Order: sequence, then C-alpha cells, then structure tokens
Amino acid sequence: MAGTGAAPLTYQALLQPSGRRFAARADRTLLASALEAGFALANSCRNGTCRACLRPLHAGRVAYRIEWPGLLPEEKAGGWVLPCVAYPQSDVVLGD
Ligand code: FES
Repeated sequence: MAGTGAAPLTYQALLQPSGRRFAARADRTLLASALEAGFALANSCRNGTCRACLRPLHAGRVAYRIEWPGLLPEEKAGGWVLPCVAYPQSDVVLGD
C-alpha cells in the first residue's frame, strides 16, 4: 500500500511584496507550481541556464536536481534562486 493514493507533499509559497500565495508541491519546480496557479513569473529556458527567472528567496529552503544551475556561488550564498529548477523543501517566501 505504500505510496498509493498518498497526497503529494505540498508546501506554501508566498510572493513578496505582492502577497500572492500558491501551493508548491515538493515534486514540482517552484516555477511550474506558480504557473499552474496562474502566476506568470518571468521565465524562458526552464532548465536553469538563462537566468530569466532569477529571484530572491527570502525564507525557506529549495533543492536542485541538476548539478549546478546557472547561479554564481555568491548569488546562491546570497539567497538567489532559479525557480524553474528549484524544488521546495519547506514553505518558501520568494520575491516577485
Ligand atoms: S527560466 Fe531560464 S534559468 Fe529559469
């Protein structure tokens, strides 16, 4: 029975300063969840290279499934994320 019919793990994402919220599934990128909720966040390549979606992560944690998305180490350390390839690991607050 393990896993059958289980609801996907879902976190809350908040866009600041607009205050818009959307459900962010752990198995989907933040961009995919935002678009599904009807929020047209800037994007282009959707594979972590063009940086069109770059925005600050004010709170929460994300993980990447690709080795090193197109973020400089300083940006990563400074809290910038690429929502097109970032999977939430907690509730998150993103700049919009
Ligand atoms: S859309 Fe290109 S890096 Fe995110």
